[in-house]
Amino acid sequence: MCAKIEHHTNEITYESLLQGNKDWVAETLLEDPAYFDKLAAGQKPPILWIGCSDSRVPANQITNTNPGDIFVHRNIANVVVHTDMNLLSVLDYAVNILEVEHVIICGHYGCGGVEAALSNKQHGIIDNWLRNIKDTYRLHYHELDIISDHKKRVERLTELNVIEGVFNLTKSSIIQNRWSSGKKLGVHGWVYSLNSGLIKDLNVSCEANNHLGNVFKMDEPVIK
Ligand code: CO
Repeated sequence: MCAKIEHHTNEITYESLLQGNKDWVAETLLEDPAYFDKLAAGQKPPILWIGCSDSRVPANQITNTNPGDIFVHRNIANVVVHTDMNLLSVLDYAVNILEVEHVIICGHYGCGGVEAALSNKQHGIIDNWLRNIKDTYRLHYHELDIISDHKKRVERLTELNVIEGVFNLTKSSIIQNRWSSGKKLGVHGWVYSLNSGLIKDLNVSCEANNHLGNVFKMDEPVIK
């Protein structure tokens, strides 16, 4: 374990990444000569992961999984916006082509994006992205305003950002059409702790649209 940490604190350079790749291929082939042949044959991951771009929250490592196990979309502060073509494309492909059985939004405590959204400072163009989190604050201001401890307020906003993300996913036609076609699909909200390495399940899992307000429920599409 120490060797691993030492390795990662060595200077990372453009060249060291390419050397690291060669080392990894050699080590992997030593363990399983057919490893790349098997992976190259195709993917059938059961999970779509929507996480933060933060370098400290890599989906595979923190869930003890491997390449091929998780389809991943990451953006700053793991925000789900219904006009984000990137996210919608990933979601549609994961749900309808890869047929994942679970979509997980995983936020993390200590998220710089959530912290920035709570501040009044300008950070540049990213402020327009983080505005989505300020909107989540507005939805839950009655709960957040009374949390006097700043760190605790950031933590709760981090959780609420994930929870709203779960609801935003379930408001999409992609998820609702999947459900109405009778396919099983779970949507879940988690938060990862940088301090402990542990994931907390926020227990907001949905497998149907019955938690949504009526205005967000969609009939089955007319054209199939
Ligand atoms: Co973050």
